[in-house]
Amino acid sequence: MKEFDPNIIDEAAAIIDRGGLVAIPTETVYGLAADATNDKAVARIYEAKGRPQFNPLIIHVAGPEMAQRYVSFSPLAEKLSDAFWPGPLTLVLPRRPDSTLSLLVSAGLETVAVRAPNHPIAQALIRKADRPLAAPSANRSGSISPTTAQHVRESLGARVDLILDGGPCPVGLESTIVKVDGDHAVLLRPGGVARENIERVTGAPLKIQKSSDRPEAPGMLASHYAPNAKLRLNADAPASNEAFLAFGTAPAHPHRLNLSEAGDLTEAAANLFAHLRALDAICAEYGLKGIAAASVPHEGLGEAINDRLARAAAPRN
Ligand code: TXA
Ligand code: MG
Repeated sequence: MKEFDPNIIDEAAAIIDRGGLVAIPTETVYGLAADATNDKAVARIYEAKGRPQFNPLIIHVAGPEMAQRYVSFSPLAEKLSDAFWPGPLTLVLPRRPDSTLSLLVSAGLETVAVRAPNHPIAQALIRKADRPLAAPSANRSGSISPTTAQHVRESLGARVDLILDGGPCPVGLESTIVKVDGDHAVLLRPGGVARENIERVTGAPLKIQKSSDRPEAPGMLASHYAPNAKLRLNADAPASNEAFLAFGTAPAHPHRLNLSEAGDLTEAAANLFAHLRALDAICAEYGLKGIAAASVPHEGLGEAINDRLARAAAPRN
């Protein structure tokens, strides 16, 4: 993390208080944060992102205590928050009838997505503002999630009142989203916590809800994480007119970036979005046909990496 001026947290909290937008670093990706209890502030998020209004947002809390003011925890939900908060796990839980959250946050659903981020700057701002922050990834809708403050600047620029620069995000992938309904848990989105680790806590296999074709998590559109360049998956080797997203030992290539030379999935996750952006720019600069991506093992964080790659490769209009 970069050196940080504590006064800027006061400035950021004042912006939140008056309904403005602050881009914040979290351990996963940068978030575009606003007061989750203020309808106008939440509406500004959708406006800045150019995001369809029916797409619900994650609220970011300091911890379970703050979350319990807005959503109901079943014993299973409590077990999961105990095990993984603060951290890259989002729980979708029933909204409390007395919740003061903006109704826009969950876009009409009876449930709310909530997580406690594990990042000192995000935590400091939530505590200073003393309220939950609604925050989607801080990029224009449909583009790649930002893992540095510079990515946020490029994508949103003047649409944000303040960008807090916390350096590169250590996890680099969005949170894992699990919907908990009583004693029943389903995986809505693979992410920063590997499924195996969640199953170790729940003691049962986690069912996957294919959310791309469900109205319930409309943000999981097939082509949600798209670079401009065409992406070819599971490539053994790149063609001469392709850029190459390598993993592990890889053939030499003039336009190659490696997710992890050591074949480490955590390192690969942290590099994924920044490498996709960089190769996208290289394709444009050199007039290449697209990006060839090496295959990544489907275990641990590999599940989330493959999910994002599949979305980035999906046909779009
Ligand atoms: O790591 C992350 O989760 C980042 C950082 C900033 O916290 N945030 C993030 O937010 O990825 P966003 O808005 O890009 O994605 C949130 C996802 C969307 O796919 C949305 O549809 C889903 O969460 N979601 C939100 N509320 C939901 C709900 N009540 N039920 C089901 N899905 C929900
Ligand atoms: Mg997003």
